[in-house]
Amino acid sequence: MNRQPHFIPAFHFHWLTRWYDPMIRWLFPELGIRSALVTQARIRSGQPVLDIGCGTGTLTLLIKQTEPEAVVCGLDADLEILRIAQEKSDRNEKPILLQQGTATCLPYANETFDHVFSSLLMHHLTRVDKQQALKEIFRVLKPGGELHIADFGEPHDVTMWLLSRGMRWFEEINDHVLGLLPIFAEKAGFHSVQETAYYRTIFGAVVLIRACKPDNARSEHVH
Ligand SMILES: C[S@@+](CC[C@H](N)C(=O)[O-])C[C@H]1O[C@@H](n2cnc3c(N)ncnc32)[C@H](O)[C@@H]1O
Repeated sequence: MNRQPHFIPAFHFHWLTRWYDPMIRWLFPELGIRSALVTQARIRSGQPVLDIGCGTGTLTLLIKQTEPEAVVCGLDADLEILRIAQEKSDRNEKPILLQQGTATCLPYANETFDHVFSSLLMHHLTRVDKQQALKEIFRVLKPGGELHIADFGEPHDVTMWLLSRGMRWFEEINDHVLGLLPIFAEKAGFHSVQETAYYRTIFGAVVLIRACKPDNARSEHVH
């Protein structure tokens, strides 16, 4: 019996999962993008942090290395990729907490985290699921907590637009190209939603986004 929820795997096909790390290292400016995302969060000692769609755990481990006293959790729908993340975590002095689950129904109580990261996850979700995932992120963030996204965004030039068009055959990036991700974040209740960086990559335009949960916000539903 297949007990995994439905999801698009890291490189679209399950058989490519084991090649995810070497391919992304080779094809994508991952170090610059991941470092900038972690830097913008300014994580403090003791803060609980969640990385959703954590994949092989590269960003999750970078967060832990940057702030070793933070409590860093990684969540992914795919058990196979979580096994790779676990092996990498086992080689690390300070372990991360890994869990299987889906972005649209996060297995955490309201107001658990100071920061939630989402790196290259959102373009794996349908429009409805992106909106549901953003609501879930809002729910599990503490008031004043922050969301940090790295994902496809609105292209600023023709080359990036053409590359993004190609990606539309494989993944759910149409809303990203239309610049709708920040608007979805605002609709989920986030304020100060801001594009903080823009990268030209061979897959298309990638942006970093920061969004804040207002200090006076409360999470309505309980899980
Ligand atoms: C392109 S990979 C990104 C992995 C990692 N965050 C990174 O930056 O390299 C997308 C990840 O999202 C996961 N994923 C897809 N749909 C998901 C869902 N509904 N809930 C949780 N994870 C999901 C996939 O299993 C995959 O590991």
